[in-house]
Amino acid sequence: MRTPFIAGNWKMNKVRDEALNFVYAVNEEVPESTEIETAIFCQAMHLRCMVKRQGKNLRIGAQNIHFEEKGAFTGELSPLSVKDIGVTYALIGHSERRQMFNETDETVNKKIHAAFKYGLKPLMCCGENLAQREEGITMEFVCSQVRNGFKDLTPLQAEKVVIAYEPIWAIGTGKTATSSQAQEVCHEIREEIRNLYSDEVAEKIRIQYGGSVKPANIKEIMAQPDIDGALVGGASLEADSFLKMINELR
Ligand code: PGA
Repeated sequence: MRTPFIAGNWKMNKVRDEALNFVYAVNEEVPESTEIETAIFCQAMHLRCMVKRQGKNLRIGAQNIHFEEKGAFTGELSPLSVKDIGVTYALIGHSERRQMFNETDETVNKKIHAAFKYGLKPLMCCGENLAQREEGITMEFVCSQVRNGFKDLTPLQAEKVVIAYEPIWAIGTGKTATSSQAQEVCHEIREEIRNLYSDEVAEKIRIQYGGSVKPANIKEIMAQPDIDGALVGGASLEADSFLKMINELR
């Protein structure tokens, strides 16, 4: 019932030609978005040229947006301008932004509201660090990120947010969470949404896993009942590997 969603997070990688060559290579190969939704989150300066060349299925997302429409925010990305150039998604609250660029649950919440206001689809990241996992507070911490991020969203908005559960200790480390560890937390996130909203919203909302996902492990991760997709960093940089992951699911 929930359409699988595989998204690549390129982070601060690729010059323009590399970005466009990727799009040319995958455009005709990615499935219909009704079968598997696919997206690439690229650097801001490539958004427009990526959008112009996207095929009928692949969609493009920004790695960050500001929550204000315009004003004195040097270096930030206006959600209005991002929408205006045809971008579909906004990645919000990635752990690198939380750790290095002072993103908090409060700014994450404001950005999700801004995404809806300007017609962007929000993809909200959450996830614990190693110390929190070892302390045994993973569920509590991740659920509080979800609760705070979803503050004042209506049920109709909430069901459209995509949540990416990304344990920080598994990002870029080659150390994937086991599929049962990932399932356990994604299940808990869905239960949190059920408590906050309803069975209907909980069954509709899509939850991705992220953290060292690659062609060799995507199938097992996606086989978990509460995991509806993947947010992939390193393994999304090459067209071959991106397509391999998608083909593993078909
Ligand atoms: P990774 O990154 O797949 O390279 O671990 C995932 C992410 O940060 O979204």
